[in-house]
Amino acid sequence: MWDDWIADAAATREGAGLTRTLKPRGPDDGVIDLAGNDYLGLSGHPDVRRAAAEAAMLWGGGAGASRLVTGTLTLHGDLEEELADWLGQPGALTFSTGYHANLSIVSALADRTAHVVSDAHIHASLIDAVRLSRAQLTVVPHNDVAAVRAALAAQPGVRTLVLAESVYSVLGDEAPLTELAEVCAEHGALLVVDEAHGVGVHGPGLVHRRGLAGRPDVLVTATLSKSLGSQGGAVLGPRSVLDHLVNTARPFIFDTGLAPAATAAALAAAQIARSHPHLADIIRFRVIGLARTLGVPAPAGAVLSVPMPSPEGAVAAQAALLTEGVRVGCFRPPSVPDGVSRLRVTAGASVTDEEWDRAAKVIETIVGEVR
Ligand SMILES: Cc1ncc(COP(=O)(O)O)c(C=O)c1O
Repeated sequence: MWDDWIADAAATREGAGLTRTLKPRGPDDGVIDLAGNDYLGLSGHPDVRRAAAEAAMLWGGGAGASRLVTGTLTLHGDLEEELADWLGQPGALTFSTGYHANLSIVSALADRTAHVVSDAHIHASLIDAVRLSRAQLTVVPHNDVAAVRAALAAQPGVRTLVLAESVYSVLGDEAPLTELAEVCAEHGALLVVDEAHGVGVHGPGLVHRRGLAGRPDVLVTATLSKSLGSQGGAVLGPRSVLDHLVNTARPFIFDTGLAPAATAAALAAAQIARSHPHLADIIRFRVIGLARTLGVPAPAGAVLSVPMPSPEGAVAAQAALLTEGVRVGCFRPPSVPDGVSRLRVTAGASVTDEEWDRAAKVIETIVGEVR
């Protein structure tokens, strides 16, 4: 019975051009990597590597336990202080992934009696978080503030969370954070902003840049795995909310603390990102130039989404680019809510100007052929 079911699912995937495979890479395979999320190029920074190595030597390979047992290290506190200070928040709590941070905040604050209003393009981790919470869900069209207002007005007096990403991971555009915060304040709702693609690329993030940091009704989640080039996640906001998570968030309580090497790497990377704002300028310059060349809208963050005619076309373009020594990502259903397959090109600061120029030319040629 199971063999047939798994084989049927594989055949359906294959027929739809949606089969995914893991493609291991070596530490340095000579390919220009524009597929990853190491936006500021900090993963391989000598200070980040050194901090990770020293932390592993001092603390060992893992935190050794969940945070409430013996897995809270003073190193976690150092990182939490740094993140809170940088992002202008009263406090921070770190998690073993950004996925866990999102699962935790939503499932700890929302339950069956709560209402969640979610943008249609929200990340899978927040979708899963709502499922875990069992809250009532209203999905609103992308970046539609009027629809958020209507959803809030339809349920007066119900405890409501509104979920948005500061920079959307697939579309690459920015949320209307100021307007969302206003609407939430009018209705007594909490706004939860996932800054996975905002922190670093926009310095302390767009919540901070829009003057919303530190507001008790605007909570932030972040990942340490993109601009900070490490692994892990964080929730930032009032101490009372963080204490509530420590006491009630199951994805926090029943999970081993963030590994020492990842914690120290993220701390070193945050310090470098803060003191080297020009790294983010490199990204903006590159991504805007390539968007203009390809005739697609310039994204708000580091990732350029290039719509492709079909999943097969996207995969073929990705393979052709790799043959030319350029690695890009590829979004296909079910990872894209609107069903449009896209190439995903990261304008990371880790490649040299020469590499970027060569890659941009190859991308222009191959995308032109496939489109
Ligand atoms: C918007 C968004 N939120 C959360 C996550 C999850 O972060 P992590 O990889 O640290 O689990 C991602 C990662 O892809 C993301 O893009």
